[in-house]
Amino acid sequence: MDANEYEYVKKEILAATAVDLDFYKAPQMQRRLKSYLLRSGKPDWQSFFRMVRADDDARRDLKNYLTINVSSFFRDIDKYTFLKEKILPELLSEKIAAPPRPKSLRDMRRSGRASAAIDTKTRGLRIWSAGCSRGQEPYSLAMLLTELSGSFTKHYILASDLDRSALAYAEAGGPYTKDDVGAVSEKYLQQYFEERDGKYFVKETLRRKVTFVQHNMLTDAFETDFDLIVCRNVVIYFTAEVKDKLYRRFYRSLRPGGILFVGGTEIISKASEIGFESAGISFYRRKV
Ligand SMILES: C[S@@+](CC[C@H](N)C(=O)[O-])C[C@H]1O[C@@H](n2cnc3c(N)ncnc32)[C@H](O)[C@@H]1O
Repeated sequence: MDANEYEYVKKEILAATAVDLDFYKAPQMQRRLKSYLLRSGKPDWQSFFRMVRADDDARRDLKNYLTINVSSFFRDIDKYTFLKEKILPELLSEKIAAPPRPKSLRDMRRSGRASAAIDTKTRGLRIWSAGCSRGQEPYSLAMLLTELSGSFTKHYILASDLDRSALAYAEAGGPYTKDDVGAVSEKYLQQYFEERDGKYFVKETLRRKVTFVQHNMLTDAFETDFDLIVCRNVVIYFTAEVKDKLYRRFYRSLRPGGILFVGGTEIISKASEIGFESAGISFYRRKV
């Protein structure tokens, strides 16, 4: 794909899906786009975008393809075991006698005020699953947190994604396939899922523990004062510069001592320059 053609494709994609491809590594994105065009059966980009402009489903499919929303519950189970046995117990023990937390972005938006007003009701952990796809990640976090802390009501799990259709799926609690729930223990399956016709649905008790919002982590404001931010398998296609900026923003959104949990193959190259220290493989702590 030559530079002019890529400029044209980027412009059309931004208009059709609001995804800005300038944030993504060009060679990989161009390869993926070429194979998508081939699969669409359209002879060129002009006719492809004519079809996309006229068809909501085609627009949604294109956006899903670009943002790649593959996920599963307890993805990389060894990392979740570490999270359960080491990271979450530490964060929970640090929470005792913690000060009140600022209000959420959603509450601020609702009340029309951007000030960091104090919400005295929320004194549990503040967790953000950024790029939560169809909800498998935040629901996994909610299951662990409930088991570890007994009562859940005081905690806040924010789950955000760019993709509205993935969020709608997550909010509906499924249906998830047998593969999706492959790493879910029998105990959690019994407790939190209903099985119907071979499909799994998250029960209301778990669903209401997670707050889903549509959010673009590359352009939208971040909430602050998180104890744990989970951003896994999202940044792989972003350019090095975009990743660096994003990790700095995550750093600022964590409270001192808060943890950033990244994907199994992801390494923050400038971690110590940003102010992170290692808290285990795939876990970075904002230095106190
Ligand atoms: C591969 S999934 C990862 C899901 C989950 N974090 C996991 O590790 O299983 C990547 C998700 O990131 C979302 N995403 C991509 N770019 C995003 C952006 N700029 N802002 C928010 N979400 C984004 C996609 O829509 C997709 O649902």
